[in-house]
Amino acid sequence: MCGIIGYAGTKPVAPILLEGLERLEYRGYDSAGIALAAENTVVRTRAAGRLANLRAALEKSVAGPGANHSESLRQQTRGSSGGLAAPQAAGVGHTRWATHGAPTEQNAHPHQSNGGKYTLVHNGIIENYQALRTFLAKNGTECRTETDTEVIAQLLEFYDTGNPLETLRRVLPQLEGSYALAVLYYAQPGIIYAAKRKSPLLAAQSHHGTLLASDAAALLPLSRAHYRLEDGDLAVLTRHSIRFFDGEGQEQIKTPQVMSRHISAAEKKGYEHFMRKEMAEQPEAVRLTLEPLLRQGGPHLGSAEEALRGADRIDRVLFLGCGSAWHAGMCGCVVIEELAGVPAAAALASEFRSQVVTINQNTLVIVVSQSGETADTLMALRQAKAAGARTLGIINVEGSSIAEESGSVIFTRAGLEVAVATTKAYSAQLAAVYALAARLGQLRGTLGGGKMRAFLHALAALPGLLEETLAASEEEMLRWAEEIAPKEHAYFLGRNLDWAAALEGSLKLKEISYIHAEAYAAGELKHGTISLIEQGTPVVSVCMRPGVVAKTMSNNEEVRARGAAVYCLTNDPSVTARRRFLLPACHPLLGVSFAAVPLQLLAYHCARLRGCDIDKPRSLAKSVTVE
Ligand code: M6R
Repeated sequence: MCGIIGYAGTKPVAPILLEGLERLEYRGYDSAGIALAAENTVVRTRAAGRLANLRAALEKSVAGPGANHSESLRQQTRGSSGGLAAPQAAGVGHTRWATHGAPTEQNAHPHQSNGGKYTLVHNGIIENYQALRTFLAKNGTECRTETDTEVIAQLLEFYDTGNPLETLRRVLPQLEGSYALAVLYYAQPGIIYAAKRKSPLLAAQSHHGTLLASDAAALLPLSRAHYRLEDGDLAVLTRHSIRFFDGEGQEQIKTPQVMSRHISAAEKKGYEHFMRKEMAEQPEAVRLTLEPLLRQGGPHLGSAEEALRGADRIDRVLFLGCGSAWHAGMCGCVVIEELAGVPAAAALASEFRSQVVTINQNTLVIVVSQSGETADTLMALRQAKAAGARTLGIINVEGSSIAEESGSVIFTRAGLEVAVATTKAYSAQLAAVYALAARLGQLRGTLGGGKMRAFLHALAALPGLLEETLAASEEEMLRWAEEIAPKEHAYFLGRNLDWAAALEGSLKLKEISYIHAEAYAAGELKHGTISLIEQGTPVVSVCMRPGVVAKTMSNNEEVRARGAAVYCLTNDPSVTARRRFLLPACHPLLGVSFAAVPLQLLAYHCARLRGCDIDKPRSLAKSVTVE
């Protein structure tokens, strides 16, 4: 979703902002813009669509006929005579994922107050913006865009005291909702003001200036250490310093956090798409995730052990997450119930928030998130903590909001995931869940001896078998895709863990290929949905879980009798189907990891054959930071 970058320093500003925005592209956006501070003015350039459009608009504004940029602004934009001799300057940039108002240039950030005094970029949602617009209109200020953000700029100008920090402290309490803000003031060209509530914001110092970003990925390669703003914090960035203040105006001392592992640049490394590259990285992601958790000869969660203290008293496990992270949680339930004998459930974080909360200190709440920034998951985590539950995060991004607030964290080691459709991070989540379940079972005395040894042995073999599965699936999934890509609807079936695998497979297919896909618990189809099955309807059936395969096979027959084209993923050689793909024999709890691979490839090839934008599907964002 939306991304923020800010820079105050001596290097040409625009190239730094554009590079930062490129690093934020993976989050998903539909318009972009930057603002550069100059003498007593702030100049904005914005464009609907991709960053290429913004670059073109910038070139035009500097070089085109009628361009009236000052020399310092020209330097900031082009970097022609930058370097340490360049004047100190500042700018902010933004990629917008539209919420309020269409993705047009007019609605793109940065937004500016009517008198041009305040220019800002914003992540989050101002929930009371209508009331604030009405207030402004009554007092003679008309908003010019459809966005919620514009009211902040207009209010700042309305209440301007000539001291932006003071003005911010006056305006921010009037805002309901969430914000990460980067603000330029027309009379102070080398300064960025920042504020945060509920949306993440980081600040960092480089040797030629200071930076602000909504996401650590945007700060690289300029700085690996960053300061994290907390809710209610304000910050003032100049070329030399970053100062932090609380809502009362008291200066705060913060300690920078150093990223313990390098976030590599987003590179396709010869692959056509990031998704394809990230699929190929799954064995490594799983291996790296499991390695520290199994290092001691048995399962051990390191610092996350804290969440399992007094494991005997845990009487319920609740997974919370969204999308694929919720699917990983569904798998976690089955594995934990089986290995640790604790009742477990998985709730959608967005739904959990409106439920009556019946959890307590004996409930282990596990929040699962790749980005660590999903707003619904973060809010659900806070709700669980407030109810007294012990909490544990399974998170891919160090320093993310959910990682910071989870208490205990198991980090998945998938590295930077760029494609909107998650692949390697999901596989790493499953790996983390397996290790967690094994440790919980060990601590509760429900998993020991031969059963433990067999499970650990299977986990050790998982990365290698995933590698083989990737190679073996390619050809057959391309064949399936050639048949399924022309269709507009598809169904996915499975029972137990296979149902979770089916849900994940259908999500992958619909998000990147735009084929309508639904996943059903195989036994549920005949309670209504089977009426939609007609001649040629593709039905992908996952038959990996021993004990339920025979029943799913009967369900396959039911849809086949109604004309469905059945495609079956199984590791049971006795399963027959019109199209069958045989996966490796594996531990009964791990089939879901293997089924994920061909299902990803199926979605990928369908999307490719349909000419879709695979890495950045329409309307989707990598990091969903609004509720
Ligand atoms: O960053 P998170 O893991 O919290 O994200 C949760 C979902 O938004 C995410 O899994 C989404 O469903 C993916 N696009 C699925 O491929």
